Amino acid sequence: MGTVENPVKTLTDLDEVQCNAVKTLLEETGAVHFRGFNVLTIDEFEEVAEALLGDLAAYKGGDAPRKAERGLVYNASGPDRTRAVRAHNELSYAPWHPGTLLFGCSIVAAEGGATTVFDGSRVYSILPPAVCDDFTERGITYIQHLPHAAGDPSGIKSWPETFETEDRDQVIEHCQEQYTSAKWTPIGLLTTNRTPGTIEVGADQRPAWFNQAHIWRKDPATVPDVTDMDRWESWIGYGATFGDGTEIPEEHMRQVAEALAACEVPVQWEAGDLLLVDNRAAMHGRKPYSGERQVFVAFA
Ligand SMILES: [Fe+2]
Repeated sequence: MGTVENPVKTLTDLDEVQCNAVKTLLEETGAVHFRGFNVLTIDEFEEVAEALLGDLAAYKGGDAPRKAERGLVYNASGPDRTRAVRAHNELSYAPWHPGTLLFGCSIVAAEGGATTVFDGSRVYSILPPAVCDDFTERGITYIQHLPHAAGDPSGIKSWPETFETEDRDQVIEHCQEQYTSAKWTPIGLLTTNRTPGTIEVGADQRPAWFNQAHIWRKDPATVPDVTDMDRWESWIGYGATFGDGTEIPEEHMRQVAEALAACEVPVQWEAGDLLLVDNRAAMHGRKPYSGERQVFVAFA
């Protein structure tokens, strides 16, 4: 588009036709990259996020060490800039996940730092059908044992940090209602959540990869007995098995890693850019980077 006096306002004041055009584009592609709208400050980002997403949601139940920058706008940068953030759907391991995400870049990294996107239906279509069938039919059980206190040597977020409250009763009530199982242990809060590993997305209900077993699954060679729930009681951490509690084969994980690598699309940021992502249809990640990088994220 040509030069506009206040490009941010173009996005906060979209009319119905324009809103529907963005929606359609998002539904067809899984992600929409906005450039030239100059969304630079947290105020501008928040305003645009509310215009594009509607009511924003908290990052409740999330495993990443992430604090709200303000209100329900979070910093997307993650703790370790030297390592890539692997492909994932936001909160796919939890009972609730956002439908849409909005990222916005105000400061570009000196080097690297692209946000990566992956079309979930493309991942599904290039994986061997037997792998997709296993994940669809058997599903995944995510196991999460969160410590009572922050700063655990494992690096795992405590349950008060994860659920953004210290209220023990409220947390266990929420978890027992929402998760497959939830209980207190002497060392923390142990939950399991059984979900399908694939979903159907878009108007055409195309099948899409939707899980992060490849991040949560423990290699049985280094962490034995991941399928033994008794063992989990004395071990803080994350794990993933098939929905029926059996081991996900190494070979499946190798195929998944290969498919994800083939589907990776890096979105190199310019300051003021936005990236709208359908969290069900597309996965996202991040390339390693150096220097300062500021990327906001909001969930809905
Ligand atoms: Fe994420």
